[in-house]
Amino acid sequence: MVCLGNICRSPMAHGILRSIAKTNGLEIEVDSAGTSSYHIGDPPDLRQQETALKKGIDISDLRARQFTVQDFDEFDLIYAMDDSNYNNLIALSRDEKDRSKLHMILNESHPGKYESVPDPYYGGSEGFELVYDLLNNACEIITKKLKDGTYG
Ligand code: 4NP
Repeated sequence: MVCLGNICRSPMAHGILRSIAKTNGLEIEVDSAGTSSYHIGDPPDLRQQETALKKGIDISDLRARQFTVQDFDEFDLIYAMDDSNYNNLIALSRDEKDRSKLHMILNESHPGKYESVPDPYYGGSEGFELVYDLLNNACEIITKKLKDGTYG
């Protein structure tokens, strides 16, 4: 799960997917990162933590890190939260194999549309709720596909 700062959208996606996967008995490794170095080592934004907790998801253990090219080797699926992150990841990719792992996360719920999860950082609390709703929907679909073995 990749966004810009790794303190709002991608830790929310990380927390949701690990929670849904656990509930479904799906053993997967979930991680998140930012394309920027702005918040390395920081916990998720308190506003995102509070929104998550209201939904029963604790993301207080997560710490921001920056995406590295080795992540293309470590992970099978890489989800960008918005088109800017997506383009940054394309720029970091080395070959078609790397690019084949890369997806816009909202293409899971709105296939082929390349819609972005809006950056909530400079807005009000409703932005963090919207992030949760969009990502929860997408992560439900990802989990179902992984569980059914119908990914791709
Ligand atoms: P995120 O949100 O990419 O969802 O973690 C942001 C966090 C920090 C900044 C921008 C977006 N920033 O400019 O510091």
